Amino acid sequence: MTESNQIISVKAYRFEPANQVKPYFQNFEVKCSEPISIMALLAKIHEIDPSFACRTSTCFKGKCGSCLIRVNGQDVLGCTTLVNPGESIVVEPYSKFKVIRDVVVDFREPLSAAKE
Ligand code: FES
Repeated sequence: MTESNQIISVKAYRFEPANQVKPYFQNFEVKCSEPISIMALLAKIHEIDPSFACRTSTCFKGKCGSCLIRVNGQDVLGCTTLVNPGESIVVEPYSKFKVIRDVVVDFREPLSAAKE
């Protein structure tokens, strides 16, 4: 396996609504030799940049839904969705709830009810 095949390139949504006017994307390269879940990938990004917010206290079994996230334009469960070394992905917050920070959403505030 070549060096580039051991890297997952991630374009990650960043936004801190309390302090920023608009979101932006930050690129990360995560070393990885085997397929990993999106949740594990987010944890690795958080290790690289502790200012990146993501949920870590979850069931990891596809049952609680707290890992919902948008990957390459599709809403998915982050704990059961795998990404392979060599892939490039875009991660954004789950589309149906208001953003608290980065890819963390407030499940109490559906976007249709969120105040602008
Ligand atoms: S962590 Fe519970 S459904 Fe994914």
